[in-house]
Amino acid sequence: MTAEPLERSLDRHDLLPGAADGPDGPPLDLRTARESDLPELRRLDEEVFQEFAYPGFLLRQLFDMYEEHFLVLDDGTGRLRGYVLAATRALGTDSWILGLGVTPDRRRHGLGTELMTEVLTRLRRDGIDVVRLTVEPANLAAIFLYRSLGFRPEEPDGGLRQDYFGPGMHRQIMRLDLTG
Ligand SMILES: CC(C)(COP(=O)(O)OP(=O)(O)OC[C@H]1O[C@@H](n2cnc3c(N)ncnc32)[C@H](O)[C@@H]1OP(=O)(O)O)[C@@H](O)C(=O)NCCC(=O)NCCS
Repeated sequence: MTAEPLERSLDRHDLLPGAADGPDGPPLDLRTARESDLPELRRLDEEVFQEFAYPGFLLRQLFDMYEEHFLVLDDGTGRLRGYVLAATRALGTDSWILGLGVTPDRRRHGLGTELMTEVLTRLRRDGIDVVRLTVEPANLAAIFLYRSLGFRPEEPDGGLRQDYFGPGMHRQIMRLDLTG
């Protein structure tokens, strides 16, 4: 099966300042997702992506396919505060980031970076050479984060793909080579 990029549209960006007041509650556990997380994962996805959240059936099947690269931030009270999902091709050594989100109350504390860093470490360990993602061109928070990890627009046209997800739904494709 070929993994396709499914980054969803966000019209409401938390651009500058956008910072949470500070982390509250117990420290978070960054771990692989479990089947028992699925209801809470769905709630988290809806909290972060609202009307663009994955349908429950798709989230379930993404978990079935990509469990090893589906990571969550568990606050220990039954709530998940963030997740990242990377899909790999069955035949090939490339991967797409299909989801990255942190709850609004926990943003700007390095958690998105931690999730991405850990999933990139696992992808490299598992023989993946190239990681791609799509991002809405106005989503500067995500673009800054990805750039800080070494992602760059994939040419041509500075990575911009007009109407990528349909009319008016432009996306930038970013790419990171894990080799070299
Ligand atoms: C994008 C997102 C995952 C970032 O999570 P986060 O935990 O806040 O990110 P980090 O704290 O690791 O930030 C890392 C860097 O990204 C950039 N960044 C993150 N949020 C930013 C913001 N609101 N404004 C400007 N830069 C921002 C900064 O460069 C930041 O480094 P700094 O804090 O040292 O300045 C989070 O904002 C989110 O869930 N957004 C909604 C969902 C989304 O857009 N997902 C990505 C889809 S492609």
